[in-house]
Amino acid sequence: MFDFVKIKNWWRSRKIKFYTSLLRSSAGSIGKNSLICPPFQSFNIKEMQVGNNTRISEHCWIQCIDNYQGKSFSPRLDIGNDVHIGRFAHIIACDNIKIGNSVVIAERVYISDNLHGFEDINMPIMKQPLKQAGPVIIEDEAWIGNGACILPNVTIGKHAIIGSNAVVTKDIPPYSVAAGVPAKVIKQYNPKTKKWEKLTIS
Ligand SMILES: CC(C)(COP(=O)(O)OP(=O)(O)OC[C@H]1O[C@@H](n2cnc3c(N)ncnc32)[C@H](O)[C@@H]1OP(=O)(O)O)[C@@H](O)C(=O)NCCC(=O)NCCS
Repeated sequence: MFDFVKIKNWWRSRKIKFYTSLLRSSAGSIGKNSLICPPFQSFNIKEMQVGNNTRISEHCWIQCIDNYQGKSFSPRLDIGNDVHIGRFAHIIACDNIKIGNSVVIAERVYISDNLHGFEDINMPIMKQPLKQAGPVIIEDEAWIGNGACILPNVTIGKHAIIGSNAVVTKDIPPYSVAAGVPAKVIKQYNPKTKKWEKLTIS
């Protein structure tokens, strides 16, 4: 029987594979079986290394900034193996962003290692220099919920969970759940009881 959804998905997967193969000439590297889905926005992905079996979903904007307003940077963006990046993710590296293996990033997530200078009140913000504000490291198996913002100079530990719409401004330890604005740890895995235990937030 005619199944339009099946045909549509087959055609889409062909298109994604072809699109990814074209992007290989622009990226640092894109590993085996990894896919970048169109539409995809970027001006530079030369310093982006993507591992194997990773998927970058539609409408992502991923940028390695090597020059901004005349200032040069040496960006590095590493995305591991078996990573899923949901739609509308916005990842901007001008220093160092590292996403480990088996990380799940939901939709509309923002990750940045930099910020716009704003100190000069006589100059529009877009014209002020970009500031490197510290690397972002997301360790293996972390799960970043929908709409979360991961700000510069932050390490998210192994198997940590970031709740939807959280704004992460400080390191989150491994095997913990963090939520809120700014994000605070609300649960942690206790290896003695083998249970995730709720913490009281002061
Ligand atoms: C963070 C999360 C995983 C926690 O789930 P959980 O362990 O079942 O947490 P609980 O429901 O026991 O909530 C614990 C407390 O944190 C609060 N909380 C949970 N998620 C929160 C969030 N995203 N922001 C703020 N507070 C949150 C709860 O209200 C509860 O507060 P209380 O103790 O005052 O009642 C989950 O709430 C979440 O945000 N998941 C992300 C979903 C998502 O983005 N999915 C995308 C698909 S890839």
